[in-house]
Amino acid sequence: MSAFLWCDRTIEFGKGETVAAALLRAGIRELGQPTAGPARARVFCGIGACQACLVRSRDGAILEACITPARAGMELSPVLSWKKDGGDA
Ligand code: FES
Repeated sequence: MSAFLWCDRTIEFGKGETVAAALLRAGIRELGQPTAGPARARVFCGIGACQACLVRSRDGAILEACITPARAGMELSPVLSWKKDGGDA
């Protein structure tokens, strides 16, 4: 298995797996705060349509976790913060 980082937590993934699938398998269902306001990011549609699963890459790119293939070495966090404590945001 390969791995990426979610808030400095190592998340393993298999070949062809999306970021969202790997996070869900690791028990991470809340992806932080996607925008200003009380909403919490979660996987909803799973097909890249609703934007509910947005996450931020370390390089600043905003990604749809449900359709983004996981890649070794990715560093991801909630959109509005770079959390250091790992786990559910
Ligand atoms: S869950 Fe809807 S875009 Fe990802």
